[in-house]
Amino acid sequence: MSGPHQGGPGGALRRDRFAFGPLEEGEALVEPILGSWEANIDHALTRSPIDVCSSRGEDAVVLGNLGVVRVLKVNASGREVEVREGDLCLLMPFGKLDRFGYAELAYAYDAPRTIGLLARRSKLDARLLLPVPDGTTYSLPQWAAYGRYFTAWDNWRKAYGCWRTQIADDDPANHLVFGWGGGVAFAELMLAKRAGFRVAMTAGSDERVAFLREHGITAVDRRRFPSLSQPTPQERTDRERHRQRRTSVQEFQQLVRELSDGHGVAIFVDNIGEPLYDVTLGSLAREGVVTTCGWKAGMRLNHLRGAESIARHIHVNTHVWRLPDSPGIRDFQEAEGWMAPQGSDVVYDFDQVPELADDYANGRIGSYFPMYRVNPL
Ligand SMILES: NC(=O)c1ccc[n+]([C@@H]2O[C@H](COP(=O)([O-])OP(=O)(O)OC[C@H]3O[C@@H](n4cnc5c(N)ncnc54)[C@H](OP(=O)(O)O)[C@@H]3O)[C@@H](O)[C@H]2O)c1
Repeated sequence: MSGPHQGGPGGALRRDRFAFGPLEEGEALVEPILGSWEANIDHALTRSPIDVCSSRGEDAVVLGNLGVVRVLKVNASGREVEVREGDLCLLMPFGKLDRFGYAELAYAYDAPRTIGLLARRSKLDARLLLPVPDGTTYSLPQWAAYGRYFTAWDNWRKAYGCWRTQIADDDPANHLVFGWGGGVAFAELMLAKRAGFRVAMTAGSDERVAFLREHGITAVDRRRFPSLSQPTPQERTDRERHRQRRTSVQEFQQLVRELSDGHGVAIFVDNIGEPLYDVTLGSLAREGVVTTCGWKAGMRLNHLRGAESIARHIHVNTHVWRLPDSPGIRDFQEAEGWMAPQGSDVVYDFDQVPELADDYANGRIGSYFPMYRVNPL
């Protein structure tokens, strides 16, 4: 990605030669196999909410921070390095860690001098490589969806833990976990279902509605509530738009009441943000938790602290996960089969990456797990 551009996010991508120096101590030369297309790439291409080139002080950036790579060479030079030539590994997207191992800057995003996977070859810190388990029963595309799963694992644990501080021993089967759309919410709801909760989630297409049902999640077709989002600034004076919104909100909240025996949502996975935030909070049960790691449609939020306090709502915000937790999350995935379902991905060739960028930005992809193939296996 480099320089200013015209048109959709795909137009920001340019095929070019990118030079990097020899392997330094502890670095690995890798061949990316499959990369996962994520909202952070879209943010970088649209230069919003931050311009990663200018925040890194670099003219060109190679994006792509989640995916499966093959290790070609390691420069261990006496350092303890756990990966070997030929290993297939997952890239952990950590640029700068805080003192507890959480990410402050993301790899191949806002962390300077980090090179991503949208390149035929890349080099990176070998400590960021987590081997795919030997003899795994899952396919590489299933593993390549790990970013949304690892993020969901961390966010769910915090959300569930917070909920349990107030509802110590009631049966989760009496409680509803609800999510606005997306792959992270899907993965999180699959954990909520394992924990015994009722689970429901919105989806915007027939394909996704069918997919959710197939996996035991109550699918809420959001096309039934066409005016649920807050009016845009241009629509603020449109009284008809406000009336339609009231109708959509009332109908949505009626549905939530039906799904939750009238109590509301116990844990609301909201990675959408601004245009739905009042609906999210208005749908929460007493002692409910609103949990997020994303702000797909806007991140400036307002709420009434008094109302939130009196309802004892807990607000959980997380980002990525804790690097030292990575092997444990991977092992949980392998052992428990908590994985992107077989065949649920969609893979674009390397030459089609600009098309992938535009399809993703325009909501034209049915899968929750869009990917790009860089090199053959
Ligand atoms: N902080 C982190 O560590 C981290 C990690 C991963 C993701 N995230 C963030 O989490 C967010 C979600 O990511 P994701 O990968 O799960 O999903 P995603 O691929 O970004 O898709 C989000 C989905 O939300 C739904 N949606 C979009 N606009 C909506 C609106 N106005 N109202 C209702 N639904 C809407 C759409 O699904 P339907 O059309 O099917 O409803 C869309 O496919 C992103 O903002 C991403 O940046 C953060």
